[in-house]
Amino acid sequence: MNFQLTDQQLSIQSITRQLAQTELLPNVLKDDEEGRFPEKAYAKMGQMGLIGLPFPKEYGGQGADYLSYVLAVEEISKVNSSVGIAYSVCTSLFSGGLINSASEEIKKKYLPDVLSGKKMGAFCLTEPEAGSDAAGCKTTALWDGEAYVLNGLKCFITNGPLADYFLVFALTDPEKKTKGLSAFVVEKAMPGVSVGTIENKCGIRSAQVSEIIFENVRVPKENMVGEEGKGFAVAMKDLDGGRIGVAAQGLGIAKGAYEIAVQYLKDRQQFGKPLFKNQYLAFKMAELSVQIEQAQYMLYKAAMDKQEGRNYSISAAKAKMVCTDAAMQVSQEAVQMLGGNGYMKEYHVERMMRDAKITQIYEGTNEIQKLVISGSLFR
Ligand code: CAA
Repeated sequence: MNFQLTDQQLSIQSITRQLAQTELLPNVLKDDEEGRFPEKAYAKMGQMGLIGLPFPKEYGGQGADYLSYVLAVEEISKVNSSVGIAYSVCTSLFSGGLINSASEEIKKKYLPDVLSGKKMGAFCLTEPEAGSDAAGCKTTALWDGEAYVLNGLKCFITNGPLADYFLVFALTDPEKKTKGLSAFVVEKAMPGVSVGTIENKCGIRSAQVSEIIFENVRVPKENMVGEEGKGFAVAMKDLDGGRIGVAAQGLGIAKGAYEIAVQYLKDRQQFGKPLFKNQYLAFKMAELSVQIEQAQYMLYKAAMDKQEGRNYSISAAKAKMVCTDAAMQVSQEAVQMLGGNGYMKEYHVERMMRDAKITQIYEGTNEIQKLVISGSLFR
């Protein structure tokens, strides 16, 4: 497998890196502290074509390959992984779900504005009683002869307060459980849709995460995504792509923390020499660089599996595990290496450590990834 990046991939990586430095870095500490999403920077990402990178031009995308998109999520997440996950949820989960499973009419209606960053999308699967057990959804969408009428509450919805459109999973036939689950595009502007509690989180503080409440929301039949009763498979297929996005977020955090630690070990003098002259610290950095490179290869392989039409459920689950574990390990080690400074906000690594933790949890905890991987081993 050739991991030599193409000229186009290198160019997308470099443009995104520059955008992250100029548009995200100056405000990242304040955005984190105040729990504020940098909407202007996100709009700029849309104008530059980043949000629509891996999608066909006919829907307003850029027609780039999937690895280019992964590189962009990684670069954004190196600097502000709250924006990394907002980007990934909108692109991998909302737009990816529509590309995989929606009708032409729905794709043409909703994708152009989302892919250009004018509108935002979110993915509404999780409920208070349906987290890891996604099959436990209770939200209903019952046909009344003219429309599907949605009732229920979704929680932990990334982009919830900001999104204009939601990809919602609800039971059209509650008796049939997962075989009665269907997917819909629901607009926030539809009567009966409201934003509930906005979460106060440990990390990814500038990403906006909330409940979304549906009270007698009338959704037209044409807004169904995929076939009636096939919503569980729509969600699972969509999450395979989402896990590649979270893996890219994790790898970005790991690389961001690693780069800060390298610089610090060169600059900081203790006991009359730079810190990196202590073999314990130099060896630790060697181990972390190996961990990052292993994770990177697994992520790029998953992206290429998806790009080249191979089954990517397992490679996505593996990439999600190794990249998010690397995010946690590297950011935690970086805090330790920076000592007292590492615990201070202006050195960024404590924020990266807080952000890293959630990557091991959402879009399926890493235990769920092991379930997916082990399921394939013994099938
Ligand atoms: N692609 C397509 N179909 C799939 C699939 C896939 N990757 N995985 C499973 N399916 C299908 C199966 O073929 C099966 O279909 P049939 O019944 O027709 O045979 C059906 O789905 C059920 O499959 P399982 O029996 O394997 O399902 P399960 O109930 O045992 O659950 C699970 C499997 C992997 C644990 C799943 O529930 C899961 O992924 N849970 C985690 C949910 C999750 O990631 N939630 C995060 C929400 S998003 C988020 O975090 C929000 C955010 O904003 C960041």
